[in-house]
Amino acid sequence: MKITIFGTGYVGLVTGACLAEVGHNVLCVDVDQGKVERLKQGIIPIYEPGLEPIVRENHASGRLAFTTDAAEGVAFGDIQFIAVGTPPDEDGSADLQYVRAVARSIGAHMTTSKVVVNKSTVPVGTGDQVRAEVQGQLDQRGLSLTFDVVSNPEFLKEGAAVNDFMKPDRIIVGTTDPHSERLMRELYAPFNRNHDRMLVMDLRSAELTKYAANAMLATKISFMNELANLAERLGADIEQVRIGIGSDPRIGYHFIYPGCGYGGSCFPKDVQALHRTAREVGYEATLLDAVEAVNNRQKSRLIDLIQRHYGGAAALAGKTFALWGLAFKPNTDDMRAAPSRVVMEALWAAGARVQAFDPEAMEETQRIYGQRDDLMLCGTRDAALKGADALIVCTEWKSFRAPDFALMAESLREKTIFDGRNVYDPQRLAEQGWRYYGIGRGLSVDRP
Ligand code: UDX
Repeated sequence: MKITIFGTGYVGLVTGACLAEVGHNVLCVDVDQGKVERLKQGIIPIYEPGLEPIVRENHASGRLAFTTDAAEGVAFGDIQFIAVGTPPDEDGSADLQYVRAVARSIGAHMTTSKVVVNKSTVPVGTGDQVRAEVQGQLDQRGLSLTFDVVSNPEFLKEGAAVNDFMKPDRIIVGTTDPHSERLMRELYAPFNRNHDRMLVMDLRSAELTKYAANAMLATKISFMNELANLAERLGADIEQVRIGIGSDPRIGYHFIYPGCGYGGSCFPKDVQALHRTAREVGYEATLLDAVEAVNNRQKSRLIDLIQRHYGGAAALAGKTFALWGLAFKPNTDDMRAAPSRVVMEALWAAGARVQAFDPEAMEETQRIYGQRDDLMLCGTRDAALKGADALIVCTEWKSFRAPDFALMAESLREKTIFDGRNVYDPQRLAEQGWRYYGIGRGLSVDRP
């Protein structure tokens, strides 16, 4: 099949590369000339395991091409994917200007019937707006061409996106048009071999499914963080509680890990956008509001612990902290809404210095914060510890799991760890004379 994808960001590029990988012919369109040139040379703008080889191989085989020419893109595919960004507006709602612009472009250039598929995360009702934009252009051109708008939200996790696309849990398709459904079935047949993973529903339900999934996961995390804060005050260990409740299959073990808050490009943005959508239709989504509030507070949790340890914000001036993990989660270089940023910015505001290390997000940190006296980016995990007062862990990269604590004690000025991801065993560290602060681990916090 011939597929066009507008937007070579994270979602568009993964979609394009994976569709080409199973044999479809894909043309990716982006307005950014430099990015398109780099993609043609196999240079990928993001770090995503497994993506670079499939982009290179499929580009070399001719099944994956890149262009800045929208007219060429519209002429190419029977299916036109919209996979452009929907960044949050000042008020938290999703900014649809890029989605709308692509829809207008499709309407302005199409000369045969098309199926327009929306993959961008968009508020419920956007499909209808896309339809109106395409129709508006056709009307201006005095053409009567048939087209359908389908919602096909993505459920890709950063760091595992290629695998998630190739082996989906479900493929949500929002359309009531039999021709569109047939085309979408044909498109996804290679990913749907052993059992049918395609769930076909109306457009609006598909749009809401995407938000519902992310809001549910964010709710699980905020719930656990709330319980962690409570456990701390009650002298209980949230990690024991987590295992205790996860064993109930109705609850399950996934996404109940407490920590220094969720970040990334999806959860914070989508929870806010759904909250905003609810308001627009006259419904106050109290729970979503709380999920967001708990998360915002949680991102400062490590700072609260640090201040408590040193006796207030003023005591942090002149101190140096080693910080392991800058990305919002492991296996990505993405720092959008990363808890590490809240921690670093609060430390800087208090006059402290940071010696940071992350296996992938160092360049991104440099790009965001530039050169500053109170930030030293260190080449290795161990180098970040040298001469620092204490260690802070913000992301649970695998390589942080089993450090040499004896060696660490020699590098740090104080044997103190603030662990935002509960990576270490408080008991063991206490036995070795460390002050260990985890999230919701009441028993460890007050140990001498
Ligand atoms: C998420 C969804 O999982 C994915 O389906 C959707 O398409 C896009 O948004 P992503 O943002 O890549 O994916 O990250 P995810 O792995 O879901 O983690 C989000 C955040 O939650 C991270 O900051 C992570 O550290 C945090 N998290 C996750 C927790 O704090 N506790 C958990 O138990 C799980």
